Amino acid sequence: AVRRAKALQITLAIIKPDAVAHPLISEAIHQKILDQQFIVVRSKELIWRRDDSERFYAEHKGRFFYQRLVEFMSSGPMRAYILARENAISHWRELMGPTKTYRARYLSPESIRGKYGLTDTRNTTHGSDSLDSAEREIAFFFPEFNKKCWYEMDEPLIR
Ligand code: PPS
Repeated sequence: AVRRAKALQITLAIIKPDAVAHPLISEAIHQKILDQQFIVVRSKELIWRRDDSERFYAEHKGRFFYQRLVEFMSSGPMRAYILARENAISHWRELMGPTKTYRARYLSPESIRGKYGLTDTRNTTHGSDSLDSAEREIAFFFPEFNKKCWYEMDEPLIR
């Protein structure tokens, strides 16, 4: 069946450099995205410059982990996705599990971070945490993406 565009929400997901460095892990995460009936609206692999990383994480400037986060996120290839689904934002965050690896392993061992997270920095994935951050983060990675056209499509041309 074709999903009605009306019910779809979009979010920005990242497979971080630690996971991209391990093809079996990044493939398992990609497969999970497909298994969970997300529509991959856009995806690209890219490497950030340090200042991209600083701008994206500007809200964390001054926190003790900021430098290592910024450095890590510009240390190698990552994969960015626009994912569409009902409740895409919360569903993706649930699949990722808690940010902190010790919490993920303990509270949500089957989640992506519970299974593959190494540390609180090298924790495999990112996901927007609200409608506002999804909008900002999608525009950050895909400035050419026209959200309005996407929502106005009667039925996305994807099953
Ligand atoms: S917090 O603590 O609630 O503000 O954390 P959160 O907003 O979920 O995301 C923090 C992002 O920084 C990365 N990071 C760390 N967070 C917490 N503690 C430590 N030590 C740390 N080191 C790095 C964490 O992976 C989050 O990255 P994103 O990409 O947003 O998931």
